[in-house]
Amino acid sequence: MRVRKAVIPAAGLGTRFLPATKAVPKELLPIVDVPTIQLVVEEALAAGIEEIVLVTGRGKSAIEDHFDVSYELEETLAKRQKRELYEQVAAISRRVRLISVRQKEPLGLGHAVAVAHQAVGDEPVAVLLGDDLIDCEGLPQGGIGQLCSVFERLGGEAGVVALTEVPAGEEHLYGVVAGDVVVDSDEQRLLRLSQLVEKPAPGTAPSQLAILGRYVLPASIWPILERTAPGKGGEIQLTDALRTLAAQGDGCYGLRLRGVRHDAGDRLGYLGANLAYALKRPELRPGLVALMRDLIDRYG
Ligand code: G1P
Repeated sequence: MRVRKAVIPAAGLGTRFLPATKAVPKELLPIVDVPTIQLVVEEALAAGIEEIVLVTGRGKSAIEDHFDVSYELEETLAKRQKRELYEQVAAISRRVRLISVRQKEPLGLGHAVAVAHQAVGDEPVAVLLGDDLIDCEGLPQGGIGQLCSVFERLGGEAGVVALTEVPAGEEHLYGVVAGDVVVDSDEQRLLRLSQLVEKPAPGTAPSQLAILGRYVLPASIWPILERTAPGKGGEIQLTDALRTLAAQGDGCYGLRLRGVRHDAGDRLGYLGANLAYALKRPELRPGLVALMRDLIDRYG
């Protein structure tokens, strides 16, 4: 079954980026000149997702405005003959069908996804976390596209989550998994998961394979989410729901994602993402390289 809908949780307070996020949602902080959430939405659209369900909280309405059509801006840019900029601004708002629902209490990632159930309906769903940016330039598919292909190939009843290997000592920051390798080639590494632990205490992680913020979940995840009790940190954890999924029916798989991941939810990761995406832009690259050399001389 094809995955048509995606959930993007965007209710977090963004405390790591205060004071910038006091009045501006962290999802709108730019990577060069594109809001992080737009990069994530574009990744979903590239995978054939038709509808995005945004799970927001108070103070996040600017995200909806960002994806809305802005006639004023479009007209002004058209009048000023800024055709290219006009196309960029207009294109995303016309391509995306976006619904927004509110998570009224911060009860965890599993809860945020469950809040989207009614808007998605009883069908499979992709989940994309905006803090993880996956740069798949040069690869045939983006991050969530890679998961959707495996999900469809497995028959549409098993969950598929994105994995990456994290350095020893960092496991406690992630959902960590272990399982049996079912495909292991240069192109693909796929595991059937048997263990999933949310943020294991230091020294207790089952492996160094961590869950990245990309998931494709079958329709059977919905009743599981309803039943999932609060776990780590007193929050309803998506990882706990996935552990239940892994133990029943067609199970849950982990796919090692191809591409470069940037943790844009962390200040250093965010700065790194900005530099990486700027270095990919031919009009910025030479100037940025010279600027970085100069800055390192001055401040380094
Ligand atoms: C969430 C998930 C965690 C996952 C991580 C990926 O944690 O709960 O399992 O490994 O995203 O970025 P958070 O970073 O929101 O605390």
